[in-house]
Amino acid sequence: MAVGREQILKALSTVEDPDLKQGLVALKMVKDIEISDDLIKVVVELTTPACPLKEMIRNECEAAIKKEVGEEIKIVIDITSNVTTVREKEPVLPGVKNIVAVASGKGGVGKSTITANLAIGLAKTGASVGILDADIFGPSIPTMFNCEYKQPKTQVDGPKTIIEPINQYGIKLMSIGFMLPQNNAMVWRGPMAGSALKQLITDTNWGDLDYLLIDLPPGTSDIHLTMVQSIPVTGAIIVTTPQKIALIDAEKGLMMFNQQKINVPIIGLVENMAFMLNDSQEKQYVFGKDGGKKLAKKVDVELLGEVPLTPSICEDGDEGFPSVMKDSTISDIFIDLAKSVGRQIAIRNATQPSSQVVEITQH
Ligand SMILES: Nc1ncnc2c1ncn2[C@@H]1O[C@H](COP(=O)(O)OP(=O)(O)OP(=O)(O)O)[C@@H](O)[C@H]1O
Ligand SMILES: [Mg+2]
Repeated sequence: MAVGREQILKALSTVEDPDLKQGLVALKMVKDIEISDDLIKVVVELTTPACPLKEMIRNECEAAIKKEVGEEIKIVIDITSNVTTVREKEPVLPGVKNIVAVASGKGGVGKSTITANLAIGLAKTGASVGILDADIFGPSIPTMFNCEYKQPKTQVDGPKTIIEPINQYGIKLMSIGFMLPQNNAMVWRGPMAGSALKQLITDTNWGDLDYLLIDLPPGTSDIHLTMVQSIPVTGAIIVTTPQKIALIDAEKGLMMFNQQKINVPIIGLVENMAFMLNDSQEKQYVFGKDGGKKLAKKVDVELLGEVPLTPSICEDGDEGFPSVMKDSTISDIFIDLAKSVGRQIAIRNATQPSSQVVEITQH
C-alpha cells in the first residue's frame, strides 16, 4: 500500500515540542514531506539551532512514522532551524531577531567571560551572533577576542556615520574599546557615556543576527537605562557567583529588569565559579554550594548553567581565545549553556509578547 502525505502528517501530529507542549504539525514545524517507494524524508524546523532536544525530537518523529507505516521503509528526519523572534517591523536593528542583555549585580562575577563563551557557543551550533560591549567605562570584549588593536571601518550615509562591526571568530563585535586609543583613561560624564552607547547600538551595521548579546557593566546604572530606552530588549541573563553578597546583588539586578516600567523578561540565571574540580574531578564548593540554584528557585527563573571556577577560563580570556573554542569539558559546559539559552529564548518568544522600548520621563 502506498504511503500518503496525510498519513505522515497524522503520525507527526502525535509528536509534541516538549517545551511548547504542542504538536509539531500544529506549530507549523513540519516544513516538507517527500515520499518515494523506499524513502520518506521529512524536514522539521526547530526554533533554534541550539536546541538541546534535537535528537529526542528526531527519534520521536521516526518512531511515530514507523508506527504508522511499518518498519520496511527508510525514514530520514532532516532537522533544520529558524530562530524565532518577537521583533517584527522594528525600526531599530530590524535584522536582529533577539536582543539579550547579560547583567549582574556585583562586578567581576564573569559577565564578559560568559558573554564571550556563550556567543561563540551559540555560533558553533549554527546561529548568527553579535556582541555589543556596553561597558563604556571598562570594555573587556576586545581583549577577550584578541582584537583590541583592530579599528572598525566607518562609512558616511547621509547625516549618519555607519560603523562596521569587527568580525572575530565569526562573531560581530562592537565596543567603545575599538574607538579609543589604547591605554587612554577616558573620563566619562554620565550623559556622554549614554550617548556613546546609544551610538554603538544604533549606528553599527549589525545586519541580520539571530542573537545580539549585550555585555553590561555591573549593577543597575544609567547605562542600563540608556539600553532599555534605546532598544527593546528581548530578555536578560543574570550572572552570579555563589556567595551571599553576590546573590543579594544578583536579585537586585533581576528586580530591575522585572520592574513594571522596564519589564524585560528574565531568560535565566548563570551560576559562575559554582565549584572547582579537584584532580579526582570531584566538585569543591569554594564559594558555597548551590547559591545560584537556590536563587533561581526563589525567584522562579531557569538556572541556565553552572560554570566551574577554572584557571584556564581566566587564562583563555586574558589571551583572547575563549575556552569554548578548545575541545575540553569546559567547552562542553559552555555549549550546554548555549543550548539552554537558545531553548529558553525560544520559550520566551512563544509565550510572552514583544518587549517595548522604555520611556522614562525626566523630572
Ligand atoms: N569560571 C571562571 N573561572 C576562572 N576565572 C574566571 C571565571 N569566570 C571569570 N573569570 C575571570 O574573572 C575575572 C572577571 O571576569 P569578567 O571580566 O568576565 O567579569 P565581569 O562580570 O564582566 O566584570 P565587570 O563587572 O568588571 O564587567 C576575569 O579575569 C575572568 O577571566
Ligand atoms: Mg565585564
